Amino acid sequence: RADLKSALLEINKLAAKYFYAQLKSPQGEKAYTYLKDRQLSDGTITAFGLGYSNKYSDDLYKYLKAKGYSDQLLMKAGLITIDEKHGAYDKFWNRVMFPIMDANNRVIGFGGRVMGDGKPKYLNSPETPVFDKSRNLYGLHRARSSRKPYFLLCEGYMDVIALHQAGFTNAVASLGTALTSGHASLIKRYVDEVYLTYDSDDAGTRAALRAMPILKEVGITARVIRMDPYKDPDEFIKNLGAEAFEERISKARNGFMFGLEILEREYDMNSPEGKTAFMCEAAKRLNQFDEEIERNNYIEAVAKNYHVNPPDLRKLVSRMAVQTG
Ligand code: GTP
Ligand code: MN
Ligand code: MN
Ligand code: MN
Ligand code: MN
Repeated sequence: RADLKSALLEINKLAAKYFYAQLKSPQGEKAYTYLKDRQLSDGTITAFGLGYSNKYSDDLYKYLKAKGYSDQLLMKAGLITIDEKHGAYDKFWNRVMFPIMDANNRVIGFGGRVMGDGKPKYLNSPETPVFDKSRNLYGLHRARSSRKPYFLLCEGYMDVIALHQAGFTNAVASLGTALTSGHASLIKRYVDEVYLTYDSDDAGTRAALRAMPILKEVGITARVIRMDPYKDPDEFIKNLGAEAFEERISKARNGFMFGLEILEREYDMNSPEGKTAFMCEAAKRLNQFDEEIERNNYIEAVAKNYHVNPPDLRKLVSRMAVQTG
């Protein structure tokens, strides 16, 4: 119902302000230091409304109760838990808080990070009538007004924030979930191109492979940015800076080349036999391009990338077409 939703949004907004005030209070000193250690400026902290949920487990609960909200409503907002033994207590406790905004700047939920190695590393609001994780993107409220014709799609809150701070104000992230077609349609309202900048580990690579067809399905052209030798965009920027990141954007690989790079892992590229077998498989895949000009363009690109003679590769592609029918 409309009035339930607006009440939940009102509660979230109050909670976000409360967390923000906590961060700036003496109690929030450790959290503030944590964010400073992660090299966030005061401007960035304010722009993203970062906060702190303090150590007392029912502080927010008491604050919101005093504003007149019922237990039931606070529970629906996903901010408190009630159990028989302990009564009502805050869901977020001693965490750095990331308010999650929708495209219209309304606070729809929260992510909370432990300031150390505790588990879970991130705790997120549950889905509520105003928080649908599969139809919202972190950072979109700011990215939507970026003038770039593409989005940088990354994995985490800190990646988005670090990128924005470095001037890449077109960065967004899905909310700790895999990319869905809901996310893809949402992105398509703003841009037709996406540069995937997922983590460089196996999970990130697999996530990129899965995201490609979902983006393609709604007509978005996707490319993949390489983050190695760093784990994610946040660490990359911290170590190599914005210019190096810009260069990685310009070197992003399209879906086909990215697919070949994954395929490489199955072959011993340093032996003649291994590389030959790989080139045969690549040639087979090059036959997916029915348009001769497009196929030739890809043949040229693959030949260049793998240091083989273009006419040789062209011959191999034709032979593979015959073999695979
Ligand atoms: P930092 O360590 O703070 O830099 O986080 P990260 O974003 O690099 O973390 P990671 O790559 O492990 O995770 C990417 C995103 O997945 C996070 O930003 C969260 O949205 C989500 N995520 C990570 N860990 C957890 C977890 O323990 N629980 C849940 N629900 N989500 C998580
Ligand atoms: Mn959902
Ligand atoms: Mn990761
Ligand atoms: Mn990461
Ligand atoms: Mn990280």
